[in-house]
Amino acid sequence: IPVASFDCVVFGATGDLTTRKLLPALFYRFQDGQIPGTSRIIGASRSELTVEAFRERARDALKRFVPAQDMKPGVLDAFLEHLDYVAVDGSGEEGWTDLVAKLAERPDQVRPFYLATSPDLYGAICRNLAAHGLIGERSRVVLEKPIGKDLKSARAINDAVGEVFPEEQIFRIDHYLGKETVQNLLALRFANTIFDRLWTADVIDHVQITVAETVGVEARAGYYDTSGALRDMLQNHILQLLCLTAMESPLNLDANSVRDEKLKVLRALKPITAQDVQQVTVRGQYAAGAVDGQPVGGYLAELGHESRTETFVACKVEVQSWRWAGVPFYLRTGKRMPNKLSEIVVQFRAAPFSIFPSDAFGREPNRLVIRLQPQEGMKLEVMTKDPGPGGMRLRPTNLDISFEETFKQRYPDAYERLLMDVVRGNATLFMRRDEVEVAWAWADSLLKAWGDRPEAPRPYPSGSWGPTSAIALIERDGRTWHEEIR
Ligand code: BG6
Repeated sequence: IPVASFDCVVFGATGDLTTRKLLPALFYRFQDGQIPGTSRIIGASRSELTVEAFRERARDALKRFVPAQDMKPGVLDAFLEHLDYVAVDGSGEEGWTDLVAKLAERPDQVRPFYLATSPDLYGAICRNLAAHGLIGERSRVVLEKPIGKDLKSARAINDAVGEVFPEEQIFRIDHYLGKETVQNLLALRFANTIFDRLWTADVIDHVQITVAETVGVEARAGYYDTSGALRDMLQNHILQLLCLTAMESPLNLDANSVRDEKLKVLRALKPITAQDVQQVTVRGQYAAGAVDGQPVGGYLAELGHESRTETFVACKVEVQSWRWAGVPFYLRTGKRMPNKLSEIVVQFRAAPFSIFPSDAFGREPNRLVIRLQPQEGMKLEVMTKDPGPGGMRLRPTNLDISFEETFKQRYPDAYERLLMDVVRGNATLFMRRDEVEVAWAWADSLLKAWGDRPEAPRPYPSGSWGPTSAIALIERDGRTWHEEIR
């Protein structure tokens, strides 16, 4: 179903995010007939480019980031026709009259302003948009993460944007919420009767959330070194996954109903204090090693100077609520791990008693594994009898749903869904101001517990699952990380 006709102005039009994610996502939506012919994608940046030159850059980007077999003949040229360009200094004076004139050509379009720039510029760009009369009922602003680097800076950004845009027109992206399996978590929990009944501390032993990447920081070292794994991944993507796993049923799928429930989870997170930080968190930094059989250098070598920034973080957190009291959530994320693997593992309590002979019972507890990537799907590990006449031998077997095999269709990238939701004005999968700020307040407690100058992170070889102390973190509690090497 096509969305309304729109003029999407992308600030940061020559940057990495636009090239890798936004243009390919818009291309796929166009190819699927979802973008009306009167829509325009207007690149905006300080570079003096002609429209033709911008289109050529976009052509190159699309050839790089959209597999050739996915492109139907003629669609690329037709898509490029919808691209336009204005040289404008988002935070300065130059170029604004050109942008105003361009947008005035089609005054009734939905107008998303996508800020794919450094967050330092968000306030100034928004002030300029307002000063040039570009904000109306059909405008929206899209903010990429990171929204700040702590609560104070996040508030400053939110204040500046909030001065000119009402909250309903602000779309804060956390692209994890656009991932199919993340939305499937809502379906799993709230469209089936069997799971929610099991979703209690009586039945669930603990939850694990892992977001592991094989990549290092490479060209992003400059940004990453001021951020680290806590700010880059845990404060946003992983806490959002935790919210969707732990939240109560929202009244409906309206943006505020869902966000109210997520907010309650964030508010219930127990702050990590200086007393317990050693026990419940581990910071790591990748050293040289091998990933996918290829030797790779360490973080410090890539960066070229000393640094105490963590590229791995693991922690045990508590959600202080009636439902979750006593159920730990173990969270971990890192660069240069053995696999690109994101999953949520809900581990149920072990069977209370065995009627089986002691050598037959593996005592494997049931697990529900919700896999975001790769091979999106869900599986429930259950104990079954080994086939054959050899007696009652048990082993875990999977009730397995692979989405790829079940639905046999291309899985859209998260940005495809999110960009179309912006045009529709549907903010359910975007973060509200209070969510971002409460998440930062929790992350700040952890940063404070680590201290202003935290001790050096523990090195781990590239291609491993992080420092050994991350294994100790969970094993101390008599549990283990769920690791499937594929
Ligand atoms: C981004 C982080 O938000 O998410 C990156 O800044 C990270 O450091 C990326 O690599 C991971 O996203 P995905 O979709 O590849 O899991």
